[in-house]
Amino acid sequence: MAGANGDIKEIVYTPMTKMIVNDEHKILTIYGATGNGKSMYSTLKFLTRIIRSRPTHNTYIIAGRDIQTLEKRFIESNHSVFNWKPFKDKWTYYKQNKSGGSQIIVKGKYGDKQIFLTPFNNINTYSRVLGSTIDGFFIDEAVESDELFLQECVSRTIRQEHSWLIQTSNGGDPAHYFYWGVVDKSMTVDDVYENTDNKPVEGSKLPRLRSVPYEELRYQSDDRDRYKMFYHLSLEDNPTYTQSQLEAYYREYPKNSYMYFSRILGVRGFTEESPFSSYTTQSNIVKLDYPYVDREEYTQHVFSVDSGGHVFSRKIMADSMYNDGDFGTNKGGHTVVMNILFNKNYTKGYITGGYFPNDMIQLNNAEKISQYIYMQKTMYPLAQHPYLFNDPADSSMMASLLSRVKNVNTIRPATKRDMSIKMDEPVVISLMQQWFADGKLKIVDNEFNRRWLIPALQQARLDNKGRLIDNEDWHSDVMDALKYIFSSLYRLLITKI
Ligand SMILES: Nc1ncnc2c1ncn2[C@@H]1O[C@H](COP(=O)(O)OP(=O)(O)OP(=O)(O)O)[C@@H](O)[C@H]1O
Ligand SMILES: [Mg+2]
Repeated sequence: MAGANGDIKEIVYTPMTKMIVNDEHKILTIYGATGNGKSMYSTLKFLTRIIRSRPTHNTYIIAGRDIQTLEKRFIESNHSVFNWKPFKDKWTYYKQNKSGGSQIIVKGKYGDKQIFLTPFNNINTYSRVLGSTIDGFFIDEAVESDELFLQECVSRTIRQEHSWLIQTSNGGDPAHYFYWGVVDKSMTVDDVYENTDNKPVEGSKLPRLRSVPYEELRYQSDDRDRYKMFYHLSLEDNPTYTQSQLEAYYREYPKNSYMYFSRILGVRGFTEESPFSSYTTQSNIVKLDYPYVDREEYTQHVFSVDSGGHVFSRKIMADSMYNDGDFGTNKGGHTVVMNILFNKNYTKGYITGGYFPNDMIQLNNAEKISQYIYMQKTMYPLAQHPYLFNDPADSSMMASLLSRVKNVNTIRPATKRDMSIKMDEPVVISLMQQWFADGKLKIVDNEFNRRWLIPALQQARLDNKGRLIDNEDWHSDVMDALKYIFSSLYRLLITKI
């Protein structure tokens, strides 16, 4: 069956999309895989709400990459719900003029309504529009927007009791406000299961609402806002795809490939350029409560430190201790510890976590690292602490660690490369990838790893020589610390099968 075109009556609904159409949450996000009607449903809701809105509510925004894109997508395209029945005769478009932006005037039930077309990356243009009171927002492809713009729209929506916001998106940058500010604080269909009988609507092939994929659900904050809701749509949520079309997609993008996560599921952080994102899925992440670890087997807990020196990033990290005005330059990163629990032969391991001591005074950092390592004993009491590898570029940190850190057998500078065994950064990166791919390296499901390690793995990018690109933020510090363990133990890690 082909998709709907020309009349909203042709839209085919599933239990999930029925819910979307009836959803009344103040802030509504529809995101996920490509081409499953996200923009279609959003436009439908947007226009319906505008047309029914009260006489005093009459100013709306539709935001996208730029005016040309918005015009193409919403004004000109036959795929645009604006051009479908029953809306097609209900509006007029006024192209950009000198005095203001482009706008659509819609004939509402209670008078004319204006919709401003707003580019979401141009601060000059959008701040002009945001000057007025906005009664409703529709942001298409929101993860591409300027974060400040999205924050501004969300906070205006919250401030005005009657305002609302609808946004759509595909998978994007996990560090964007779209995710941490909205999606991760929204309710999900999994939350409302209990409140609905979750029965299939008549004629639908889908048995029940599909729950949110684990790769997205794991980011959910404990502290969510009831006025926010998101729907995650996969390819299957487009009922107009035939079985053979779906099968063709699956053939092209096999399960668990990064293409599967980015295209079929539409999950955040999975991009072609990322060497590690496909190893941040459910199959690589394990719940690991110590009583269930094979204590006899996993005995070598290895630590590493990447030193940020006294040069701190301008981005303030939570729980950090900074002296006033003491941020140094805006380059440079944070001191971070990473730890991996290996089995006794060093043939497999768990990334057990890490720690940011976040103190401006280096001796304090070393002291806090020592306490952190000591605390690991409470979780993995039978494990030994054979090594702590330190940032080879920071000899003063080395001295501090040597004087303060107890409970570690050997503290020494990390080996970064060793050309006698042809070991350099690209080789170390492939070794790490290989360990992940072979299931030899797993990530423990804990707060540090969820918040810092997984995003760092997903954000990592390689240059054309196969080295990690330094993004001058904490991501790179985490990756450096992780790399130090692999490069320093390289001989041990490759000689065993
Ligand atoms: N449930 C449906 N019933 C009928 N047609 C549909 C349905 N879902 C999608 N379509 C068709 O698919 C087209 C594409 O939908 P739309 O552009 O809204 O997808 P999208 O999820 O926003 O895609 P993208 O991720 O590329 O932005 C629609 O214009 C419509 O013709
Ligand atoms: Mg779309």
